[in-house]
Amino acid sequence: MTMRFLRHTAARVGDVQPPSATQRRSPNPLRLLPEEPRDRLTGTWRDARPGRIKRSFLDAQARNPGGWHVVGASTELGADRSVARTLGDREVVLWRATDGGLLAGPGTCPHLGALLDDCEVMHDRVHCRWHGLALGPGVRRDWLTYPALDDGVLLWVQLPTDGEPPTDAPAVTVRPPGDASFATVVSLRGTCEPSDVIANRLDPWHGTWYHPYAFSHLSVDDDASSDDRLVVDVAFRVTRRYAVPVRAEFTCPDARTIVMTIVDGEGVGSVVETHATLLGHDRAGRPTTVVTEATIAHSDRKGFGVARALSPLLRPAVASTARRLWVDDMAYAERRWLLRDRGETFGY
Ligand code: FES
Ligand SMILES: [Fe+2]
Repeated sequence: MTMRFLRHTAARVGDVQPPSATQRRSPNPLRLLPEEPRDRLTGTWRDARPGRIKRSFLDAQARNPGGWHVVGASTELGADRSVARTLGDREVVLWRATDGGLLAGPGTCPHLGALLDDCEVMHDRVHCRWHGLALGPGVRRDWLTYPALDDGVLLWVQLPTDGEPPTDAPAVTVRPPGDASFATVVSLRGTCEPSDVIANRLDPWHGTWYHPYAFSHLSVDDDASSDDRLVVDVAFRVTRRYAVPVRAEFTCPDARTIVMTIVDGEGVGSVVETHATLLGHDRAGRPTTVVTEATIAHSDRKGFGVARALSPLLRPAVASTARRLWVDDMAYAERRWLLRDRGETFGY
């Protein structure tokens, strides 16, 4: 306990205290937190203990996704045409019912095998491009639809998945109210499995060293954390001199999802939910996984209404930051898969 106390009170490079209530009320969320020169930045490897990361990872992997997979953003699917996706080596077609709800089924037409991509949608049915066969719920016994859900930000499909007893609904993240937030969704593919994406995020310690352009002053609060919850104080870099400090918590509602929620500081209630979906395997047996990340920004500041109104202009900036981080993080996840494929493991 004494050691823990010392660890949290000792002033050292990399630590930052959560913002005080006064700071939170300040009209300016920026704090003067100059970036440490690279040669004075302390490496984080001592804190990033493999055994600690493994415990969180195993806890996350034990959480049943119930066969539900994120297949894209709600905005990617219109009312009039279908979209085909690959999911767990299976082709899946997505389209919308007349009431806007999500429908899904096998992506191959049962007549002569056409891919049901970019097909016309009329009266709840998707019409095959080749000969116009109308497909939908309850139409044919040899072409059964899958449970599907549009949660307002993301699209989900339930497929029979090994080791996952089916559940009635996916574990949709508790998000800030839609009329007081704006959502940005990015996606990126890589050669790895969904578990590698989750493992990357369960190592928050890499943040300051690996992404110095985005994070600094990061420390994990061991006393507030447990195997199923990581509590992190971190500053989001804005410029070389200024940053926005927040307290965030990471949780895994299921084995393929990790959610960061801002619990103190600027933007309390904002969430970043990261979903990993296995698309399939290539001929050499290498997996392809897509990361779909939804950033749902929220603030109770007066000015946030303006930010929300400007969200079409702000989204590209949010998306660009998320993508840049994921280019690095995907390299981490791909490396983790490659080591496992070679039979080399480091700690877990
Ligand atoms: S292949 Fe679909 S209707 Fe013929
Ligand atoms: Fe990262």
